Amino acid sequence: PSARTFYEEVGGQATFERLVARFYAAVRTDPVLAPLYPQDDWAGAELRLRQFLEQYWGGPTTYSDQRGHPRLRMRHAPFAIGPAERDAWISHMRDAVDSLGLPADQDATLWGYLVNAAGSMQNRFPAD
Ligand code: HEM
Repeated sequence: PSARTFYEEVGGQATFERLVARFYAAVRTDPVLAPLYPQDDWAGAELRLRQFLEQYWGGPTTYSDQRGHPRLRMRHAPFAIGPAERDAWISHMRDAVDSLGLPADQDATLWGYLVNAAGSMQNRFPAD
């Protein structure tokens, strides 16, 4: 009986709170990423990412209750996300996932999703 969601398996809301807190602490001081974010609403940005991830992994649907359908590619269209922004996002997220100390299988599941999603959010493709 594995009716448990991945959200529950990794530790529920407390785990996602730790993940996004660690991630945004780094993003806020990153010279590449910080300028993209709303400087007066870091707490809101952190909350939106947390609630989205919780919903994605089977937790509460608070994100869509408040924001509607995620349509994340569309919501990222206003931000120029090239290779440097994508790589910086991935790098800080890797550090944040590391800080959770998840079992290897859970780490791999979470990480595979995040890297793929970051790739799909890239919307600038400079020529080599
Ligand atoms: C919002 C940047 C990848 C999920 C945002 C915002 C920025 C941003 C600047 C606006 C902050 C706010 O006010 O909420 C980036 C960059 C990425 C990236 C540079 C690099 C690839 C991702 C990925 C995910 C994600 C991979 C999901 C796995 C979200 C969510 C929001 C958001 C849920 C809030 C959307 C809303 O409801 O308005 N992102 N993002 N982002 N991002 Fe990203």
